[in-house]
Amino acid sequence: MKTMIWDMREYKDMPLTFAGLKTIKEIYNHGGLVAIPTETVYGLGANARDEQAVSRIYEAKGRPSDNPLIVHIHSQQQLKDFVAEIPEEAKKFMDVFWPGPISFILPLKKGYLCEKVTGGLDSIAVRMPSHPIGRAILQYVNLPIAAPSANLSGRPSPTTFQHVYNDLNEKIEGIVNGDQSEEGLESTVLDCTRYPFKIARPGAITQAMLNEVIPDSVIYYDYNSIDKPIAPGMKYKHYSPETPISMVTNIAHPIENGENWSNVAFILPRTLKQFAPQEAFFIPLCEDETDVKEANHNLYHILHIIDENPLIHRAFIYAFNDEIESEAIMNRMTKATGNHIVRGEDL
Ligand code: TXA
Ligand code: MG
Repeated sequence: MKTMIWDMREYKDMPLTFAGLKTIKEIYNHGGLVAIPTETVYGLGANARDEQAVSRIYEAKGRPSDNPLIVHIHSQQQLKDFVAEIPEEAKKFMDVFWPGPISFILPLKKGYLCEKVTGGLDSIAVRMPSHPIGRAILQYVNLPIAAPSANLSGRPSPTTFQHVYNDLNEKIEGIVNGDQSEEGLESTVLDCTRYPFKIARPGAITQAMLNEVIPDSVIYYDYNSIDKPIAPGMKYKHYSPETPISMVTNIAHPIENGENWSNVAFILPRTLKQFAPQEAFFIPLCEDETDVKEANHNLYHILHIIDENPLIHRAFIYAFNDEIESEAIMNRMTKATGNHIVRGEDL
């Protein structure tokens, strides 16, 4: 299949004037797949009411069909069609954090969306993205759009047009180029089917930010208990580059040791560059050790880079200290490395 490409980068300030929107809408209406930019990661979109279209998402990604999708909307009005009830506290969070990088799991009103979107669950995840281009597409198309991250299952999520193209070219009808995703990590997933609400996947909207709006309203899943339902996606290996990668802590001395570092990448804050071995690849993760937002933005792009560069055979990535709000990036790094941690002084 020939994949159409629309470059909307120049249309950020006036996306609704983009002529290609008409074709994109037709494709969605006829069961096709179009990948669109959002502020978190690129999403692989299809009409959430169309069973065949949603099946094709699972096929294109190679994704297990019991892992439900997030439905993307442009207006809270759309929720009444397929959400049975919005708890008052969830409504408050929507008003504060939408459009933005948080998805809410709410009780499903059956019959409107196709069943494949939820994998048969009686709850539904929804999000209203803030990316001006993604949002304009949702508005113009005016359909609930099911969209997982636009990567092959098991690969790092795409934060640029090129990442999507590499994984899905010739598998889907189209890709919209909307520049590099601002946030860079997938949305926070907040389960609002029971109170207190639970974070099923950490993201840019942190537990502290939510509890500041409504005290004590949000806790974490205890992943070790049999507490259900947990986001089904959590059980799959995710975000994993092919290059062996470990987290590294306690970097306070230059790493030398006479080893051959020439095929090794060190992914560290710029302020720690002095400690990386001279012959190694240095890839800046962010400016300094407190710069989580920049690290979030860069992480997936860096994971893609290390896999694409044949000279990099192994990588070490800086592990953030848990005193700062780094839960989202540490969650993704834990998965990418299989929770493998080394101490800088042991290298
Ligand atoms: O930022 C994002 O959320 C991106 C962009 C494209 O919006 N989307 C994304 O979708 O990351 P995906 O499909 O890769 O991740 C959705 C996560 C999965 O872990 C899934 O298991 C969980 O949300 N999920 C979806 N519906 C659920 C439900 N009803 N109950 C529990 N977990 C659910
Ligand atoms: Mg994903």
